[in-house]
Amino acid sequence: MQKVKLGKTDVEVSALCYGTDLIGSRIDQANSFALFDLFHAHGGTFIDTGNFYASWYPGCVGGESETVIGHWMKARGNRDQMQISTKLGFDYPGSDGGLNAAEIERECEKSLQRLQTDRIDVYYAHRDDFDTPLDETMEAFDRLIKAGKVRALGASNLWLWRIAEANMLSAVKGWAPYSVVEQRYTYFRPRHGADFGPQICISEDMKRFCAHHGMTLIAYSILLQGAYTRDDRPVPAQFAGPEADDRMAALEAVAAEAGATLNQVIIAWMRQSDPPVLPIIAGSTPEQVTENLGALDVTLSDDQMERLNTAGNPDVKKAWLR
Ligand SMILES: NC(=O)c1ccc[n+]([C@@H]2O[C@H](COP(=O)([O-])OP(=O)(O)OC[C@H]3O[C@@H](n4cnc5c(N)ncnc54)[C@H](OP(=O)(O)O)[C@@H]3O)[C@@H](O)[C@H]2O)c1
Repeated sequence: MQKVKLGKTDVEVSALCYGTDLIGSRIDQANSFALFDLFHAHGGTFIDTGNFYASWYPGCVGGESETVIGHWMKARGNRDQMQISTKLGFDYPGSDGGLNAAEIERECEKSLQRLQTDRIDVYYAHRDDFDTPLDETMEAFDRLIKAGKVRALGASNLWLWRIAEANMLSAVKGWAPYSVVEQRYTYFRPRHGADFGPQICISEDMKRFCAHHGMTLIAYSILLQGAYTRDDRPVPAQFAGPEADDRMAALEAVAAEAGATLNQVIIAWMRQSDPPVLPIIAGSTPEQVTENLGALDVTLSDDQMERLNTAGNPDVKKAWLR
């Protein structure tokens, strides 16, 4: 699988990341190992997790996903081939959440232990913490970088202005900046004012910001839980409407031309976008994961990219270029 360098760091990851919020909870360890093996057999080396995955799942307390990843890397003896991203910031049993220095130090140690490793390749702030001074957060993250426990920092679900402030502060103080941004993103555009709770979507503004500063954009919830193809998964209300209908029509036309599935076209479109967006693929069965990995074999023409980009509202990009 093609490799991608994260921001200006020396962390090189696979072109697709595998998301694990169901691993060790809804997906048991044996099936998790099989899905990881499948991803890895296709050259996938980048795995995304979080300290509190999946504390919301019945019978779970958080840490289950990291624990299973740790067991798998140990069993396969492949830690040095893998890049693992994890996150902190949400509360879960044993943690109050937030981004204060003590929390960052403590949660990092817990994640390292569960992952059975001495380093985290990308460590994300999973949500903002407006009660902790920004310099406390960034200095604490920088200490982890200097100690070699973390290789790169990421911001997930942070507003652009907060990332800009954090990185400006880090530049002045000589601390490590955020190099990666992980936000919600899919082919359908969210409706104006759509509410995603603590989750923040990639905006045109964020794309320009990341491109300008050489930061890598990573996307989650890219397939809307299967809504593009499955009757049992309606298009979420935050997206549904005439614009989504137009974009669905463009997607269907391009998929038919490319001989690919709708999900594969979405993943290929994301990777070929300007700036490129690195997709987190998921899938709870080998069939789903195989389909999503198949997107690597899809190359869209300039004309197909243009039609996909302009479907629904052709003025979005033009407005940005003014
Ligand atoms: N940073 C953050 O705040 C944040 C937030 C959310 C997610 N994430 C990361 O992103 C990962 C993925 O998020 P997500 O689950 O919301 O992504 P998603 O791609 O929107 O949904 C994944 C689900 O869609 C279905 N699916 C996947 N591929 C399919 C296919 N080819 N055909 C039919 N159905 C398919 C499966 O549902 P079933 O299993 O039900 O069949 C799968 O579990 C997470 O595991 C996590 O690592 C990060």
